[in-house]
Amino acid sequence: MNNNTLYKRHRLTALVAASMLGLATGIASVHAEEEVETPDLSGLGSLKGIQPAPVPGLDEYVKDEKAAVLLGKALFWDMQAGSQGQACASCHYSAGADNRTKNQISPGLNNVDETKREIFDPTRTGIGGPNYTLVPDDFPFRVYADPDDRNSQVLFDTDDVVSSQGVVGGVFDELYGGSYGDPRYSDRRESCELVKDIFHVGGVSTRKVEPRNTPTVINAIFNFRNFLDGRANNTFNGVDPFGRRNQNAKVWHFNPYTEYVSMKEVNLINSSAASQAVGPPGSAFEMTCANKAFRDMGKKLLNLKPLGLQQVDRSDSVLGAHSSYPNDGLRNRYRDMIKDAFNIEYWGSNKDFDGYSQMEQNFSLFWGLAIQLYEKTLISDDSRFDRFMDGDSYALSDLEKQGLEVFVDKGKCVNCHSGPEFSKAMTHLIAEEQEEGLVERMLMGDQNTSLYDNGFYNIGVTPTKEDLGLGGKDQWGNPLSHTEQYIQKLLGNNVPDDFEVDPCTFEEKVIDQDPCNSAEQTEALKLLVIAGTERTAVHGAFKTPTLRNVELTGPYMHDGSMATLEQVVEFYNRGGNRTSEGSGDSTGFDGISSNLDPDIRSLGLTDYEKKALVAFMKSLTDERVRQEKAPFDHPQLFIPNGVEGDENYAETNINGSPREEWIEIPMIGSHGRAAKGLEPLKPFLDGVNSDYDAPGYNEPEPAPEPSYIVAKDDAFSAKYGRTTVIKPLENDVAGSYDIDLRSVVIHDAPSSLDCRYYIRSDGSISITPLKDYDMTMTYSVKDSKGNESNVATMNINVYR
Ligand code: HEC
Ligand code: HEC
Repeated sequence: MNNNTLYKRHRLTALVAASMLGLATGIASVHAEEEVETPDLSGLGSLKGIQPAPVPGLDEYVKDEKAAVLLGKALFWDMQAGSQGQACASCHYSAGADNRTKNQISPGLNNVDETKREIFDPTRTGIGGPNYTLVPDDFPFRVYADPDDRNSQVLFDTDDVVSSQGVVGGVFDELYGGSYGDPRYSDRRESCELVKDIFHVGGVSTRKVEPRNTPTVINAIFNFRNFLDGRANNTFNGVDPFGRRNQNAKVWHFNPYTEYVSMKEVNLINSSAASQAVGPPGSAFEMTCANKAFRDMGKKLLNLKPLGLQQVDRSDSVLGAHSSYPNDGLRNRYRDMIKDAFNIEYWGSNKDFDGYSQMEQNFSLFWGLAIQLYEKTLISDDSRFDRFMDGDSYALSDLEKQGLEVFVDKGKCVNCHSGPEFSKAMTHLIAEEQEEGLVERMLMGDQNTSLYDNGFYNIGVTPTKEDLGLGGKDQWGNPLSHTEQYIQKLLGNNVPDDFEVDPCTFEEKVIDQDPCNSAEQTEALKLLVIAGTERTAVHGAFKTPTLRNVELTGPYMHDGSMATLEQVVEFYNRGGNRTSEGSGDSTGFDGISSNLDPDIRSLGLTDYEKKALVAFMKSLTDERVRQEKAPFDHPQLFIPNGVEGDENYAETNINGSPREEWIEIPMIGSHGRAAKGLEPLKPFLDGVNSDYDAPGYNEPEPAPEPSYIVAKDDAFSAKYGRTTVIKPLENDVAGSYDIDLRSVVIHDAPSSLDCRYYIRSDGSISITPLKDYDMTMTYSVKDSKGNESNVATMNINVYR
C-alpha cells in the first residue's frame, strides 16, 4: 500500500490517533503543542443545525411548505395510495426501514446470469422462498468456517436477497372495478388482472419481493442521489425518477390570467428524494398493478378521505390537528391539501385533459415534492454521538469512545462513512468540498488506478455479477454512474446528467504536475480513454449508507444478508466476502480483476475492538427514533405479512384468493411509544444473534423492568354545554405499583371561560365545554409509591 497516494483519504488518521486518546478519556481540548489541533474526526460531527442542500426555484411550485409537509406525511402513510393496501410506509414503517421476517425473500433478480434470477435457494436452516419466515440462524448469507478469515472454507452461500414484500403481480385495468384484498386493508377501487409468477406457494400467489434491501428514509433527504445504485436523480423532473434522462418529462402549467395551459419542464436540483418518491407508485413490484399511471392514482386519491383506512392520533405532530379520531382518517380532502400547498399554476385549470383534470395530470409533481418536504422533517440529529460532538463528553461511554477510535483509525470506516451524515454519498460533503467531486480517481484493491463515483464503493458483499449496482443502466441505456458518463464526455459524446469534473481534484492525478493544470490533465486522460486503458470501478459499487440509527435498520447491506452489527463488523474484519472463484476475485466484472476498494482488507481487530465498534454504532441511535416521538410519530398502518400458512402451504379464502396475514402498526402520537404503553422499537430479529458468530462479546442487554407508570394519550368526545365524565386513567399502564386514583394532576387546560372541569375521587374528570371547539388538556398521575408518570394529552372533541 502506497501511503502517499492515499494521503488525502488517510491524511487525518495520524492526527486522529494522536489526539483520540485524549478525547477518549474526556479531555477533549488537547493542550500546548502548536501542531495539535482539536481532534479532527475526518468531518464526523454533530448533525444538529445541518440543513439539506437548498432547492433553488422550489417556490415556483410550492406555496406553503408546512401545508406540503402535511400532504406529504398523509400520502406517505396512506394505504389507499398503492394497490392492495400498499403505502410507502408499508416498507418504511420501523425506524424508516422494514424488519418483517415473513415473505421477505427475493430470488436474486439482479443476477447477470439470467438462469439464476428466478431460482429461490434454501436458507441455511430451511426451505426459504415465498412465505418463508427467516430466523436468526439464517444469517449471515455467506458463512465461513472462520468468520475472521475470508480464505477459510465457505460453509454456506446464496444469491437470494432479504427485502420487502410489495404487491401481488397484476396488470391494472381500470379504477372503480374493485377487486383484490380484504376491505379492511385495501380500498378495492382498482381492478387488476392478477398474473401468475414465481412468487407463490403451491399456486397460491404471494406478494412479490424487491431485489434489494430497504434502506431507511430517515436522513435520506441528505442523499445526493437516492437508491443503492443512485438511480433516483439529483434533478427532479416532476414526473419520474430519471431527471433530464427522460426528455419527455413535462408538467401542465396554467396561466390564471389567460387561462392558457402549456407543457413545462421541471428542473429542480438537490431533489433526489422527490425523484425517488415518484418511483414506487408506478412500480409493479412495490406499490401497484402494472401500467397504472400516476394520474390514475391521483384520480383515485382525490376522491377519497385521506388515510381513510387508518386512525390518526390526535397528538400527531403534523396530522393531529386534522384527525377524525376516533374515526379513521383526516377531516381534510387531498384536493384542498394540494391547493393549500401548491401554486394555482399547477392545478387551477378546470378543463379536461384526456379525461383527467390538471390536478390529476400533475399528481406526480405534488406527490414528489410533498413527500420530499415531509422527508426533510425526518432528520435524526440528537443521538448521544451528536451530544458528545456538541461538547457533552459524558454522552459516550468509554467503550463507545474506543469504538469511535476504531471507526476512525484501525477500522478505516470513516474513509467512506464520513461527515455528520456518516456517508460520503450525501449532499453536504459533495456540495461543500471541491476535492470531493462526483468523480474520483484512485488506486483500487488490485493496485491499479481507476475512476469511480465518489461515495459509491464495491466492498465485496456479494460477487459483482450478482448485482451490478451503480454499474447498471437506465431504461434508455445510459449508464447510471457519473464515471461512465464522464468517459463519454471525454470521448466527445453528450450525456444526460449535467455535471463537471476537475481532474485536479483527483487523488491519483493523470500526470505528475505542480501546479496542477486541469486542461492538461483532461487532455492526458482523454488519451488514456481513447486508448482504452483507463478503467472504471463502478460495477458492483453501492451507495454508502448512513449509519445513523443503524442499530434499528437491519437487516444490512444491499442484499439484507447480515442480521446484526456484529456480523457486519466480522465482514469488514475479514476484508469482505470476496472469495476467489477460480483464479479471480469475485468483485471484478467484464475482464477487470477487482473493483474492491483498497480499504476493504483484513483489519485484525481484537474481540474487544469489535465489541467497541458495535457499541459505537449503537450510540448513533436518536432516542426519538427508537421511541417514535415527533417528528417520527405516525398514523396507524396495516402491513401485509405473507399469507396464512408457511413456505409449504398457503391458506386461501372461499373465492380462492390468498388469505393474507396483516400486522397492525399502532398510531403513535408526538409523545412517542411510551405514552401508549408500548415498548421502544426493536432491532431486526430483536437483535438476537445466531450462535456461530458470537465470540462472547454480544450478550444481549437485559431488558429494563417496566417499573414505570405510563399515562397514555386519549381522545374523548363531549357535548357543548353539557357535563361529561371522561376516564383518562382507563388506558394508563401501571408499573410495579398500582395507580393511585387520587393523584391525578392537570397541567395544561383550557381557561375556565372555555371549559369547567373537576377531578373526581376515582380519577375520572367531569368536564363541561363552554365553547364549541376541540380542546386539549394534559395530565399526569402517580403510583402508590409516589412515582409520577409522563404527561399525557387528552384531546376532547366538542360537538353540538
Ligand atoms: C415494497 C416495499 C417498498 C415500498 C412500498 C416503498 N419502498 Fe422505498 N425502498 C424500498 C427498497 C427495496 C428500496 C431500495 C431500492 C434500491 O436501492 O434499489 C427503497 C428505497 C427508498 C429510498 C432511498 C433510500 C436510500 O438511501 O437510497 C427512499 C427515500 C424511499 N425508498 C422512500 C419511499 C417512498 C417515498 C415510497 C412511496 C412512494 C416508498 N419508498 C415505497 C422498498 C419500498
Ligand atoms: C470503502 C468504503 C467503506 C468502508 C471503508 C466501510 N464501509 Fe461500511 N459500507 C460501505 C458501503 C458502500 C456500504 C453498502 C454496501 C452494500 O449495500 O452492499 C456499507 C454498508 C455498511 C453497513 C450496513 C448499513 C445498512 O444500512 O445496510 C454498516 C453497518 C457499515 N457499512 C459499517 C461500517 C464499518 C463499521 C466500517 C469499518 C469497519 C465500514 N462500514 C467501512 C462503504 C464502506
